[in-house]
Amino acid sequence: MNSLLAPLFARRSVRKYLDKPIPAKVVQDALEAAMAAPSANAKDPWEILVVQQPETLARIAAGLPYGKMLARAPLGFVICGDLQRVNGQHLSYLLQDCSACIENLLLALSMLGLGAVWLGVHPREDRMAHLRELFHLPEHIVPVGVVAAGYPDETHPPRTRFTAARAHRERW
Ligand SMILES: Cc1cc2nc3c(=O)[nH]c(=O)nc-3n(C[C@H](O)[C@H](O)[C@H](O)COP(=O)(O)O)c2cc1C
Repeated sequence: MNSLLAPLFARRSVRKYLDKPIPAKVVQDALEAAMAAPSANAKDPWEILVVQQPETLARIAAGLPYGKMLARAPLGFVICGDLQRVNGQHLSYLLQDCSACIENLLLALSMLGLGAVWLGVHPREDRMAHLRELFHLPEHIVPVGVVAAGYPDETHPPRTRFTAARAHRERW
């Protein structure tokens, strides 16, 4: 692992958080990083709900079968995409752009000293419906994923999951 890439390898899914407040500047920095992601034709279709109210975090978590840690997190992000703004109104571009946005957000949170985990939403209809209902999302807003975050109360070593056989050089 090249040490120049250390911040990237250090990003790990963190599911336990300290009861420690998150400065507003950290949230702002993370949002700026998220919205620096690549986006097809720079349409930037992302819409990000920032949630810090414990009751709202618990309500989101109630609809995520593998996202219960969000109820014990001090910070959550719901990343959605706007079908009316995305390149060519293609759902696929929306998902790709929002996924790049989520990865940027995870990397930024990790680099800022927080721990975070991506909680899958799209394409699970029940999870999408839960978020649509909870936040009264308009029809053209597609919930893509949720990120739970906080100062970490567990550590995982940096790693890559590089597998030589998965890299195809010049030909399949
Ligand atoms: C689309 C997507 C959905 C995921 N959903 C969940 C989830 O619902 N709950 C969870 O605990 N982790 C979830 N993860 C995190 C993965 O489990 C994690 O990234 C993977 O195990 C690799 O570990 P690492 O992030 O520490 O490298 C999700 C990741 C992705 C990309």
